[in-house]
Amino acid sequence: MDKRIYLCLAHMSGKEQGFIKEAFDTNWVVPLGPNVNAFEDELKHFVGQDKEVVALSAGTAAIHLGLIQLGVGAGDEVICQSFTFCASANPVAYQGAKPVFIDSEEDTWNMDPVLLEEAIKDRIAKTGKKPKAILPVHLYGMPARIDEICAIAAKYDIPVLEDAAEALGSEFNGQKCGTLMKAPRSRRCFMLRRLVNLSLITSMKRSVTIIV
Ligand SMILES: Cc1ncc(COP(=O)(O)O)c(C=O)c1O
Repeated sequence: MDKRIYLCLAHMSGKEQGFIKEAFDTNWVVPLGPNVNAFEDELKHFVGQDKEVVALSAGTAAIHLGLIQLGVGAGDEVICQSFTFCASANPVAYQGAKPVFIDSEEDTWNMDPVLLEEAIKDRIAKTGKKPKAILPVHLYGMPARIDEICAIAAKYDIPVLEDAAEALGSEFNGQKCGTLMKAPRSRRCFMLRRLVNLSLITSMKRSVTIIV
């Protein structure tokens, strides 16, 4: 096998330098500006389902905000995926909470729902309290077993924060990754996705919390 498949490459359309020049020429360097507004708007239509979209500085910032929205704080536990980029779990530690890592199942390489439920039971038995959130990832653009994960989340009434940083454009049953949550307290479930250096957080109901 001599064909190398890269994990990720930057894709340039040829227009990027022009947009950078335009930002300098029009002095829309801070705060944000028409290009970011237009980007958020276009992505809102792409994602669909009346979700609001906010551009952030990084996926890490979006996950961090999502955790704050879910009330994750010191002493809490958040269920994470063991096979992911470290930014899925870092913001859990920023909040003073502890990540509880779940291994992957072999079909999607994402969070194994069977191990997820085992871990929830184990943490309740050992700590006397439920994990504060579940943070599945659609790694390499492959949708996680979100139906099963959401069913377990609903059973234990734990909110889900969906990390779709690697899955912009991926779909599951015709629905875009980053909008798949069916867990309880859905207004408190957030999705995030990534495009170059802009990451987005969208809310299930109305608009969002902000960003950098
Ligand atoms: C699965 C996953 N989650 C979160 C992030 C965080 O994104 P950022 O590097 O923009 O903070 C990444 C980044 O590649 C990622 O792959």
